[in-house]
Amino acid sequence: MAERLLTSRFNPRFYGRRKGRPLRVHRTRLMRELLPHILVKEASCIDVSKETWLEIGFGGGEHIAEMAEQHPDIQLIGCEVFENGIASLLQHIEGKNLQNILIYPEDVREFLKNLPSACLNKVFIMFPDPWPKKKHQKRRLVNRNFLDDVLRILKPEDAELRFASDNEDYVKEALALVKDTGFFPDIILYDQKPADWPLTSYNQKAIQAGMNSWYLKAQNRKSHRRACSGFTCLDNLDTFAG
Ligand SMILES: C[S@@+](CC[C@H](N)C(=O)[O-])C[C@H]1O[C@@H](n2cnc3c(N)ncnc32)[C@H](O)[C@@H]1O
Repeated sequence: MAERLLTSRFNPRFYGRRKGRPLRVHRTRLMRELLPHILVKEASCIDVSKETWLEIGFGGGEHIAEMAEQHPDIQLIGCEVFENGIASLLQHIEGKNLQNILIYPEDVREFLKNLPSACLNKVFIMFPDPWPKKKHQKRRLVNRNFLDDVLRILKPEDAELRFASDNEDYVKEALALVKDTGFFPDIILYDQKPADWPLTSYNQKAIQAGMNSWYLKAQNRKSHRRACSGFTCLDNLDTFAG
């Protein structure tokens, strides 16, 4: 794996895994040969004159790879700390010959702090670690401070934040936080995966385990809200939030 990019100035505690099983030969080669070409070493080096979307904690990379394939003119940045996940995304990039993905292989909280303000059009947070035990909930990525950092880097107009989880409690917490910012006049909560949200491996696992998932889309542009029937929509968000 690329050497740690974190500086000692910023080092909030990270509770997840950075390494799993040893990488197979092919993935080791991709880490050595492909990653350096698409590696983001400093957030400040990114050319944000292009439309840019960020995926936080991309896991195996299925979602960001599909987004990149569907939107070749968009620059996508993926942040992930788990080496095996990064190697998996590299394999998607090689297999689909994707030219529009950059990778920041470190803690996204560091990355957000160093991005210029109002530079991103979309941020995706798909199935972040739910930390379901009460005593671990303070480890959740999405909290007030984190959201403030996300809002700072989103464009003041025409920006979108997507969040999905199978943990109802986390969804309620995220929904309340997002509503509370006042940044997004248009918030929709779906209880079925919208067709244009690529399936992630955690989403797939939730489906296989027979668990519900929720999909939160917040936009700071009034959009024409259609096709909501069968979904949980803005009108009953207050009821959902309890
Ligand atoms: C539960 S997994 C979900 C992965 C993927 N989004 C999916 O839906 O399949 C959460 C991912 O977020 C990553 N992650 C957690 N905290 C992070 C952080 N501070 N910076 C970057 N990635 C992080 C973890 O390494 C893990 O791969």
